[in-house]
Amino acid sequence: MDLKGRDFLRILDFSEAELRYMLDVAKAFKEMKQKGQNHKYFPNKNIVIVFEKTSTRTRCAFEVAGYDLGMNVTYLDPTGSQMGHKESIADTARVLARFYDGIEFRGFKQETVDDLARYADVPVWNGLTDSCHPTQALADFMTIEEKLGTLKGKTLAFVGDTHNNVSNSLMAMSAKMGVNYIACGPAALRPHEEVVAACQPIAEKNGATITISDDINVLSGADAIYTDVWLSLGEDKEKWGERIQQLQPYQVNMRMMEMAKPGAIFLHCLPSFHDLNTSVARDVNEKYGLTEMEVTNEVFESERSVVFDEAENRMHTIKAVMYLTLKDN
Ligand code: CP
Repeated sequence: MDLKGRDFLRILDFSEAELRYMLDVAKAFKEMKQKGQNHKYFPNKNIVIVFEKTSTRTRCAFEVAGYDLGMNVTYLDPTGSQMGHKESIADTARVLARFYDGIEFRGFKQETVDDLARYADVPVWNGLTDSCHPTQALADFMTIEEKLGTLKGKTLAFVGDTHNNVSNSLMAMSAKMGVNYIACGPAALRPHEEVVAACQPIAEKNGATITISDDINVLSGADAIYTDVWLSLGEDKEKWGERIQQLQPYQVNMRMMEMAKPGAIFLHCLPSFHDLNTSVARDVNEKYGLTEMEVTNEVFESERSVVFDEAENRMHTIKAVMYLTLKDN
């Protein structure tokens, strides 16, 4: 399967077989890493990773995956380039493509990463935008498969702000991989209609269902429960009060986990507000009195929680995406 030169902008751009191949290659890379086997396949390649927003996992995953593949990596932080301020996206894309073999971008708008891809004649990888987080979804599905043994026929439930970028990519990945998807959250934060319309026929073709509900009783069929922070990166802090009111009934706690299938696992893309050990959580605590938000500390620290395996798998899956889009056939 030849993916050389392809951009990785959104899950829906790829076929079921291509996504399956990415997961298989990620698994192979994970085994190689665990065995200490050298896989520096690209000693003469250079990549740039551009972040308009902060990051721990995505930045480190791209950097380490790049180094493991033998590449040189340049990191541009939110203030580290002229892009968007003194130079257009189109011009920046054409300049970066003269220096680098691949470009990662995390930023505010999907149209920025789409424009980078349009003007750069090297692969562009989406490290999160307002509309999707495709490398996250790949890592999540690698983790679900590792923990549950298979994907097809399983049920993944995203609980909380089902209108967000992570939920969009998870719905798309579920549809592609034949996983039933439940979006469980308040009516005001329902999934985007156009995403549902795009995913529904794919899910049907692959024998899976998409369920959208504000009733947590739909979680009884879930093999995996997933949540994310109640206010996404870049959203207005003034919205905390409203979001807490909307999303508190959807906090993932042990009672909710016990409503799911026996042995159901818990996933979270991280970072998470499960305690008061962050300045954001302490600010929210001071203003609204909450000690834990989208997930309780009990669930986060429980045996059902696979969040750190999931974080590790960001690196293996990103490595697979870079390898497959850069390698000659
Ligand atoms: N999950 C995720 O994208 O984490 P970072 O924001 O730390 O990259």
